[in-house]
Amino acid sequence: MVGFSLLKQPESLLLHEAYQPNGEAPISCTNKGVTSGLEGGDWSPPRSSRTDEIPQIVNDFRLAARNAIEAGFDGVEIHEANGYLIDQFMKDKVNDRTDKYGGSLENRCRFTLEIVEAVVNEIGADKVGIRLSPYEHYMEAVDSNPEALGLYMANALNKFGIAYLHIIEQRRIKTEDEYEILQRVLPIRMTFKGTFIVAGGYNRENGNKAVAESYTDLDAFGRLSLANQICRSNLSYKGVE
Ligand SMILES: Cc1cc2nc3c(=O)[nH]c(=O)nc-3n(C[C@H](O)[C@H](O)[C@H](O)COP(=O)(O)O)c2cc1C
Repeated sequence: MVGFSLLKQPESLLLHEAYQPNGEAPISCTNKGVTSGLEGGDWSPPRSSRTDEIPQIVNDFRLAARNAIEAGFDGVEIHEANGYLIDQFMKDKVNDRTDKYGGSLENRCRFTLEIVEAVVNEIGADKVGIRLSPYEHYMEAVDSNPEALGLYMANALNKFGIAYLHIIEQRRIKTEDEYEILQRVLPIRMTFKGTFIVAGGYNRENGNKAVAESYTDLDAFGRLSLANQICRSNLSYKGVE
C-alpha cells in the first residue's frame, strides 16, 4: 500500500509566522508557544483558532485526502501524533480552549474525530489509517493521562472501521542498542478492534517477537528503514512475519 500522511503542518504551533499567509501566527488550540529555542527552532507564538474556523480546517483534511487518492495513493494516514496540530488539540497540557473543542477529553478529541469522519466519508474507511502518540512528549505536546486518551480514541475509532491504528510508543533507551519495552499500549491494542501497528525502537528481532506475542499486528520501522538500505533489503527479503 502506498500511503500519504495527512498533517496540517502550516497551522502547527511548531512553525514560524514567516511561513504563514500574510505573516499571520500559525493556528493552534492555544496562544501559548513552545519554549523558546526548543529543538533549536525559532518558533513564533501561535494563535488559538476561532470555533468558526474549525469546519474549514476539517474540510482541508477532507480535500487533502481526496487529492491524495486522485494522485494515485492507495490510502492516507491521518497524522494525529508528535505535536502536530491534531495532537495539540488532544493533549491537555497544550489545549486551553474553553469552547466545545477544549476542556474534557471528549471535547479535546472532537476535532480529531470530525476529521476522521470527514476523511472516511470522502475516500472510504478502508483507505484510512490513523497515527497517534498519546505517550510522546515531543515538542511539549503532553497529556496528563495518556492511557485514558489512547483508550478513548481506540474506542471512538472502532465505529469507523478504519484500515489501521498506528501508535508510537515512548521508549527509554537502556543502552545504545537496547530499548526498554513499555507495555502500556497493550490496553489500547486490546480495545481497538482493527489492525494495530506499533512504532518506536523496533528491529527485526523485537519486532517479530511483538507480533508473535500478539502485542501488535504489525511493526513500523522509522530510523532503521530510513537510514539503512541493507536493513530495508533484509526486512523485505527475509520477511518480518
Ligand atoms: C529523521 C526522522 C524524521 C522523522 N519525522 C517525523 C515526522 O515528521 N512526524 C512523525 O510523526 N514522526 C517522525 N519521525 C518519527 C518516526 O516516524 C518514528 O515514529 C520514530 O523514529 C520511532 O521509530 P524508530 O524507533 O523505528 O525510528 C521521524 C523520525 C526520524 C528518524
